[in-house]
This record gives sequence, C-alpha cells and structure tokens, in this order.
Amino acid sequence: MRKKVTVVGVGNVGANCALRIAGKELADVVLVDIVEGVPQGKGLDILESGPVEGYDVNVIGANDYEATANSDIVVITAGFPRKPGMSRDDLLLANYEIVKTATEQAVKYSPNSILVLVTNPLDAMCWTAFQISKFSKNRVIGMAGVLDTARFRTFIAQELGVSVSNVTALVLGGHGDTMVPISRLTNVSGIPLSELLDQATIDRLVDRARNGGAEIVKYLKTGSAYYAPSAAAVEMVESILKDQKKVLPCAAYLEGEYGIKDLFVGVPIKLGSRGIEKIYEIKLQPDEQAALAKSAAAVKELIEVIKTKM
Ligand code: LAC
Repeated sequence: MRKKVTVVGVGNVGANCALRIAGKELADVVLVDIVEGVPQGKGLDILESGPVEGYDVNVIGANDYEATANSDIVVITAGFPRKPGMSRDDLLLANYEIVKTATEQAVKYSPNSILVLVTNPLDAMCWTAFQISKFSKNRVIGMAGVLDTARFRTFIAQELGVSVSNVTALVLGGHGDTMVPISRLTNVSGIPLSELLDQATIDRLVDRARNGGAEIVKYLKTGSAYYAPSAAAVEMVESILKDQKKVLPCAAYLEGEYGIKDLFVGVPIKLGSRGIEKIYEIKLQPDEQAALAKSAAAVKELIEVIKTKM
C-alpha cells in the first residue's frame, strides 16, 4: 500500500513540504488550500518535476478534503504568517479558526491519521487540533524544536567552523520568544559546548536561535521562513512513515511531565509509526526548569484565550 500525506495550506511552507516529500519519495501527496486553482497548480508543477528529478510519486491539489481520504499523515501549515514586528502569538485568533476547520475536515476523511502541526502560534495550534480531532495524544505533534535546534546547530557550527552534522542540540519549551535552548546538553561530537565556547558567546548564540524566526521575517518583510521549517516538518514525516524512531524535540501534549499539564510544549520525543512513542523527561537544572515553566506559562496564556472562543 502506498503511503499518503496531505499537506494543508500551500503557501511557501506547505509547497516546500510537498516538494521535499515527493523528492524523497516518502508518499503520494495531496495539497489542499481554499484558494481556487493554487493547490492544483502547485501540485501539478511538483508532479511534473518528477521526470527530471527522478521521483515517482503522485502529487495532486484540491480545494476540498475528499481527495485526502485515508491519509497516513496530515501536515497542517495553513494560516497567516508573521510580518515584521509581529510575534507568533499575534496570529492566534485568525489561525485558530483556520486550524479548527482544517482539523475538522482532515479527521473526517482520515480518522486514523497522525497530525503534524506547523501553523503558528505552534503550541496553541497543536492544542486546538488535539481538542478538535479528539485523537489520542500520540497522534498530534507539533513542529518547532527540530527547526529551533537546526538554527542553534547552524550558528554553533558557524561560530566554531565545524561540520553542522557534528553539532547536537536540545531546545525545550514553546516555539516562541520564551523557548529554552539547553546549552548544557548541546555538544559537538560529544564535546560539551562549554569546553569550546565562553559563556558570553554561548549566550549570544542562544539568543540568536531564540530570535531565529524573527531574523528571517525581518529580511523577507512579507512573510516568515519556509525552507528550514519545511525541512524540519519533513524530517518528522519521514521518521513516522519509516518508523525510524528518531529522538527529536517536538511539541507534545504533556500530562504532568516536567511539571506541565494539559499543554503542548516542546520536549524530546521518540517519533515512529505510532506518532509519539515516548516522551523523554530529563532532569533539568533549577534555572532550566524555571525557564521552561515560564515558557509553558506563555503557552497557557494563549490557550486561555482560545478557550473563550470554543
Ligand atoms: C519560524 C516560524 C515559521 O520560526 O515560526 O521561522
């Protein structure tokens, strides 16, 4: 049986997700968007790249969800992106409505799928999809930590002049200004970061990672990042479809882990064919735990606003 992935929202993030999924031949792809003709056009365009690139999967676009039936994974990217000066949280209510409708439609046609959320504000949109879908908590996962750690790893590799493939990093917390890069557990081929860089430099890189999304928004002016976000989402899709059981930082529904309840927050998870197969609860230092609690509190504030709309 061929695998099938639906990508909801064919803006830059969604279209690049589809292109990467096709390029890696992970699954047939259905693109869905409310804008007439755009998912069909982009879908056909990606399909027509196959003969040149050498991939052989089907890619189609649609304005409704019928064609998405029985998807293994639904990646939700639909929503407004940030503009300069906006925080991810400023998108809350507009994107809540979009993600609510997308989730309702997606789960109607693919009741056994796994939902991968990309829309911002990420952790609040995961919570929305979780509530609306009524899926078990292992089947609703948010893309944030993979992107945030990719940025942190990039900056560390640049600073040290080493291969980025040797840099391992961990970022916890919400995908927002309060995210918590854990530099203590970041290393270069096993060498702790503190052996390689002074604290002031580490702090500067942490800060840059935390503001990595805003840095791109400032350059682009009309929207937010999409190459790295789509790459990150597709790493998650691949780990699920191939049951790779990668350990990745993702937004997961917590029920007391790290002292956090009834919220989606970024934590290390094992990602396989059943979705979230394990949440790793690691021992944090008091300052890290406090930063994580602060980040969770920021996510909770958004959830309280959503609750008034439900
Ligand atoms: C970013 C946006 C997509 O971090 O959240 O670039």
